[in-house]
Amino acid sequence: MTTNGITIHRVTPDNTSVLTRVDDDVFDNPVQPALLNDFLANPSNLLVVAVADDTVVGMATGIAYVHPDKPLQLFVNEVGVSPRYQRQGIGKDLVDSLLEHGKQLGCVEAWVATEVGNTPARALYHKLGGEEDDEQAVVYTWSLAD
Ligand SMILES: CC(C)(COP(=O)(O)OP(=O)(O)OC[C@H]1O[C@@H](n2cnc3c(N)ncnc32)[C@H](O)[C@@H]1OP(=O)(O)O)[C@@H](O)C(=O)NCCC(=O)NCCS
Repeated sequence: MTTNGITIHRVTPDNTSVLTRVDDDVFDNPVQPALLNDFLANPSNLLVVAVADDTVVGMATGIAYVHPDKPLQLFVNEVGVSPRYQRQGIGKDLVDSLLEHGKQLGCVEAWVATEVGNTPARALYHKLGGEEDDEQAVVYTWSLAD
């Protein structure tokens, strides 16, 4: 997929070199090769990136997960586009690609959560046809570190 010379790629163990150059603010932290390898070793994990001038300027991650009683679902985990490349349709292309790969893996539904106040993310998911749940969710976290 190409928009204005920006290409979208699914990252696999065979093309990790695409992550050699990554713009600031695309990931929360620098990509660590060992973690990347662990991530890609599981074919249910999806990572798609947007590349401009040999540099990753956007990414989206997701996981296709199985339930004991429900068909396969895709959880869209993270989406990020470098600030200087935002509002050019890259977020849309990334999530679209992630949904398509999820479909190819057999997922029958995809979902994502974002902050109520995250206007850009909500505009993006709305644009892609995502339906907002009537009930608002609350997120709880636990620290499991010793
Ligand atoms: C959310 C994010 C990924 C959107 O990426 P993007 O490449 O700028 O999005 P797109 O250009 O594909 O825009 C998709 C739609 O959302 C709209 N949109 C994007 N940013 C917007 C903003 N700040 N305000 C209003 N609408 C916005 C666009 O206008 C577009 O609709 P259009 O086609 O009618 O113009 C980007 O803002 C980002 O990286 N934010 C920080 C990380 C984050 O919050 N990620 C989401 C976590 S759940």
